[in-house]
Amino acid sequence: MCGIVGYVGEKQAAPILLDGLKRLEYRGYDSAGIAIHNCRHTSLIKTEGKIKVLEEKLGGAYPEGGVGIGHTRWATHGKPSDVNAHPHTDCTGDFIVVHNGIIENYQELKEWLQSEGHVFKSETDTEVVPHLIEHYYDGDLFEALKKTISRLEGSFALGVISRREPGTIVAARKSSPLIAGLGEGENFIASDIPAILQHTRRVYILEDGEMVKITKDKVEVTDFTGNPVAKPVFEVKWDAVAAEKGGYPHFMLKEIHEQPKAFKDTMAGRIFLEKCEIKLDDVHLGRDYLQSIKKIFIVACGTAYHAGMVGKYIIEKLTRIPVEVDIASEFRYRDPMIDKNTMVIIISQSGETADTLAALRESRKLGARVLAITNVVGSSVSREADDIIYTWAGPEIAVASTKAYSTQLIALDLIALYIAKTIGTISEDTIREIATAMKKLPEQAKTILDSVDTLKTLGRKLSEHQDVFYIGRGLDYPLSLEGALKLKEISYIHAEAYAAGELKHGTLALIEEGVPVIAPVTQEHLFEKTLSNIKEVKARDGYVIAIANEGNEEIKKSVDDVIYIPKTHPLLSPILTVIPMQLLAYYAAVARGCDVDKPRNLAKSVTVE
Ligand code: G6P
Repeated sequence: MCGIVGYVGEKQAAPILLDGLKRLEYRGYDSAGIAIHNCRHTSLIKTEGKIKVLEEKLGGAYPEGGVGIGHTRWATHGKPSDVNAHPHTDCTGDFIVVHNGIIENYQELKEWLQSEGHVFKSETDTEVVPHLIEHYYDGDLFEALKKTISRLEGSFALGVISRREPGTIVAARKSSPLIAGLGEGENFIASDIPAILQHTRRVYILEDGEMVKITKDKVEVTDFTGNPVAKPVFEVKWDAVAAEKGGYPHFMLKEIHEQPKAFKDTMAGRIFLEKCEIKLDDVHLGRDYLQSIKKIFIVACGTAYHAGMVGKYIIEKLTRIPVEVDIASEFRYRDPMIDKNTMVIIISQSGETADTLAALRESRKLGARVLAITNVVGSSVSREADDIIYTWAGPEIAVASTKAYSTQLIALDLIALYIAKTIGTISEDTIREIATAMKKLPEQAKTILDSVDTLKTLGRKLSEHQDVFYIGRGLDYPLSLEGALKLKEISYIHAEAYAAGELKHGTLALIEEGVPVIAPVTQEHLFEKTLSNIKEVKARDGYVIAIANEGNEEIKKSVDDVIYIPKTHPLLSPILTVIPMQLLAYYAAVARGCDVDKPRNLAKSVTVE
């Protein structure tokens, strides 16, 4: 997962690739590599670490050649290392591949290829691709790629070169961005526009299910069956800075919009509806162990802590194991009661937060088994935990966490289903019902993101206030905590969240004419109760914005504005409801002229106590 650049033309490829990769550095990565062809031979150089390390490895002498592919990797399958860095090759070294995305069925393909005599060097999912191309190659690289991708499940943007067909790059896209750049006597592929903006502003934006073959004079796009596709040329009008953000004004907005894809990636290869099975590769919790568990602690900081609070409701509901949620900086000093019958779940986007890491170490010292939910492969948390669920949300750059939070919720749903199934506290029908609803989340998230006009207007309205309150019951309560955190951290508006039933125990004193109260009401069994709390606010002339499931007409009568979201399983609703909350905060912050991606006084990763 991360950056791809490819070049074929009359110039030297290496400096163009290295420059292109540098322009993708802002996305974050842990290893880098390039492969260059000339008429005589192929050079492949790759390394763990930054592009600077790669350049040092090259020792100032760039390999010569006018054809090449380069990659920056952000680890998913396999830790960051020289051997796991891209490009990857087949057994002969003839076929060289870079890949963004996740091949879901790689394990199965790898076993089959090994039984055919192929020898693998890395732990990556990607390496199956060059071996498949080797298997299928019969004098035509494009055909071999076509056959290869027909075997792949999951997401991919692939770039391939081969010394058997020098002067050509073939590439394909499914659910992972890929473009072809059009030059004079030279052409390009790239995962992102900034990588090639120096050289051309004319691009083909490939769609899912499209492939491309480029030589220095020609770019041919086809579908996966080989039928030619007539592509319109897209003229890039953005400057380099806007291009880094994919045309969005801020990384935060870009990351909010990346959620449908992030949801898909988090679920990729993990939910098997027919067999009613949840498969988690790096989780090894047996029935005996899970049956011995008397208590689960969830420990985290910030947004990840809020995800943990949602997790408590879901895990308790499905597994009937008691769950306690703790802030890591408190947990580590409060002498928690932990033994081998306690399981600890650590949640951390970065996997490097000092307090969270200390809580992990303390838990293990006291004899607990630790499962980590993290977004960064190779992070300290991932190295030290006993079991891991990666969220595979892709790098998150904005300080305010968005796609990391929603994918943490998906990971928590997966682990709840996994435990419940293992210890037999859930029926197959319920697993199927929840898992089927999970599969619909990416499309439903897209629906919310496709209609943001109301949210823009409401965000602007909120920006004029000093205080905003959030109230909710059941799962809408921890979700409200996250909504309030988003608003305060990026717009600097004072925002607080309460369990709706608590309002009358103090906070109601602060409600007066026009004070905004945001009230998610997605939990239907609690609707009447929350509605009565909303009425308490309205009786004091507060201004209420509700977030409700589509079809809830009743709510309209009691509030000032309603934001509708598509209906999902009640346990999953925070995954969708958080999206309008993120956007409200975003538009309020923009209206106030705040530095949305880098809010004052805050850091993305807090590696001090
Ligand atoms: C910082 C970030 C938050 C994040 C928290 C925990 O405060 O600004 O967005 O939720 O750290 O980070 P982690 O990487 O452990 O999830």
